[in-house]
Amino acid sequence: MARQLKAGTSKTLGLIVPDASNPFFAEVARGSEIEAQEADYSLLMGNSGQDVERESKYFNLFQEQRISGVLVSPIEDVREEVESMRSQGTQTVLVDRKADPSICCSVSVDDIAGGRMALQHLIDQGYRNIIFVAGPLEIQQVADRLSGAREAIRQSRGGAQLRVITTKNLDVLDGREVGSQIVAMPPIERPDAVFAANDLLAVGVLQAFVFNASIKVPEEIGLVGYDDIAFAESAIVPLTSIKQPARLLGKTGVEMLIEEIEDPSGHRHRQITFQPALVVRESTTGPSAR
Ligand code: RIB
Repeated sequence: MARQLKAGTSKTLGLIVPDASNPFFAEVARGSEIEAQEADYSLLMGNSGQDVERESKYFNLFQEQRISGVLVSPIEDVREEVESMRSQGTQTVLVDRKADPSICCSVSVDDIAGGRMALQHLIDQGYRNIIFVAGPLEIQQVADRLSGAREAIRQSRGGAQLRVITTKNLDVLDGREVGSQIVAMPPIERPDAVFAANDLLAVGVLQAFVFNASIKVPEEIGLVGYDDIAFAESAIVPLTSIKQPARLLGKTGVEMLIEEIEDPSGHRHRQITFQPALVVRESTTGPSAR
């Protein structure tokens, strides 16, 4: 790497993710790493921790190290960083976020379709009084899932209702906290189903239901997550989830990045959007589910 840097070239890529502890981003990183290695590139990863300052420091670090390209799942708009990096010869591709075609390439998943799919499944299973456990609505992926969920509610023509509970983090502990809030509700106020913005929240909700109050999932409350991380299948009640092709996102992002690095003048920005998939498991299809 030192020789490459000295020569003014560096077959090294950078990856910045908002939460390295989330198995979804670990899978994105794995897909990126495999593709980078196959193209004889190294990959360095930074965790922004959903903190814009930390994300900016990684952009600066990768620029100082004359990294050839950066794959980033951005927290907010990174237009300025992308243009600054490109002016220094470092290309950028957004992953898990659709980019403006005039700025850079991106590879993402249609989260509006994913949210709609989750709610439509619950409605089809006979659930009607649903809570969306959101995480921070400032996160574009979460906001898109809620938009899709609301589309399904509108299409149900009053047949179903949706309440929203936001949390600070998209993790198991915050999911468990919301699950405990639902357990504490008078039974008449409890939902008959929960859609969680990601699987970590869903696992936390499930823990609160099963360990604190023996609320039966799915007989009393159905549960859908999002990402379909490996743990969704092995949860104490196997979790219905909306699958994102996480490893493919990483692989495709690196492919696009290397294309632009190796032919910047001939490159045309592309926005690739994959479709999510509903994976139905016991958490919405129990013996007496609707
Ligand atoms: O970053 C929050 C969520 O958005 C992750 O769980 C994953 O679903 C991503 O798309």
